[in-house]
Amino acid sequence: PGVNDLRPRRFAEYIGQRQVVNSIQIAVEAAKQRGDTLDHALFHGPPGLGKTTISQIIAREMETTLVHTSGPALERPADVVGILSNQKHGDVLFIDEIHRLSHAVEEYLYSAMEDYRVDFIAGAGAFAKTINLPLQKFTLIGSTTRAGMLSPPLRERFALTYHLDYYSVGELTHVVTRSASILSVSIDQPGAKVIASRSRGTPRIANNLLRRVRDYAQVRREGEIDDEVAAEALHVEGVDELGLDRLDRLYLETLARNYGGGPAGINALAASANEEVQTLEDVVEPFLLKIGFIMRTPQGRRATTRGMTHVGAPSDAAADAGQ
Ligand code: ADE
Repeated sequence: PGVNDLRPRRFAEYIGQRQVVNSIQIAVEAAKQRGDTLDHALFHGPPGLGKTTISQIIAREMETTLVHTSGPALERPADVVGILSNQKHGDVLFIDEIHRLSHAVEEYLYSAMEDYRVDFIAGAGAFAKTINLPLQKFTLIGSTTRAGMLSPPLRERFALTYHLDYYSVGELTHVVTRSASILSVSIDQPGAKVIASRSRGTPRIANNLLRRVRDYAQVRREGEIDDEVAAEALHVEGVDELGLDRLDRLYLETLARNYGGGPAGINALAASANEEVQTLEDVVEPFLLKIGFIMRTPQGRRATTRGMTHVGAPSDAAADAGQ
C-alpha cells in the first residue's frame, strides 16, 4: 500500500478529533438532506493532524469532487478563476496553506465565496472591460497552520471554522494498530503504545514511525513488533522517549547552548540552527510549547528548566523567570 492508503476514507473510520468530526458530520448530513452545498470551512492546526484527510472525507461523504490546490500554487487570479469556472454544483475546492495566497488572488475569492461570481478585467487600457462570470455554488475548504495569518475579510467568509489539536496516546495507539493491520504488520498493544507515545501527538508521524519500526523488525528481528523492538528501532532513528527527533533537539540545544536558554529571536535561532524560520515556527515549536519545554515571550524564545534538562544543559532559576 502507498503512503495515502493509511488515510481513513470515511468518518466512520476516523480516529480522534471527536468534537470536530461530530460537528462536521452534522453539517454534512444537513446539507445533503437539503440538497444544498456545504458551507465554506476553514481548518487550522499543526501539520499532520488530518486537515487534508478530513477534507477528502467531506468531499466523499458529500458525493462531490475535490480539487486540491495550495496558496503558493495559485499565483495569478487567472489560476483561481480557471479552477472555479470549471467546478460543478457542490464541488469542493481545497486550498492548502491558504495563508500564503497572494493579495490579488484572495480578492477574487471574496465574491466567489459570498456571491458565487467573479468579476475580472479582460484587456487593458481603453479596451479593458469587466466580465462578470457566474459560478456554480461550491464549497471552499481552507487549510492553514496559522489561522492568525489569514486576513480578517477572508477568515470571516468561512462559516465553519475548526481547530485540530494533538491526539492522545490512546488515540494514536488506535491509529497505529489500524495502520499495522492495513500494512499486514504484526504488532502487539505495548508495541503500538511505544510508537504512539513517541509520535508527538501526530498521526502522520505515528504512521511514519510505524514504517521505520517495521523495517527494523524485518531486518534485525523476526518481523514481530513488541515494545522492546519498537523502542530499539526508534532509538536507532534518533527519536527519544518523548518523541523528540533530531530537529527538535537541535532547536533546544541551540537555544540552550548558543543563547544560554534565551531569550532568543526566531531569526537568530533559525540562522544558528541552519533551518527555515517557517519550519521552526510551524513544525518544531508548537509541540515544544505544548509540552512546556519552551516559552514565547515578548523578548523572544526561552527554554524552560524542563527543556534545558532534557538536552542536558545546566539551567538555573533565572531561565524560568516569568514562567
Ligand atoms: N491515519 C491517519 N490519521 C488517522 C485517523 N485520524 N484515523 C484513522 N487513521 C488515520
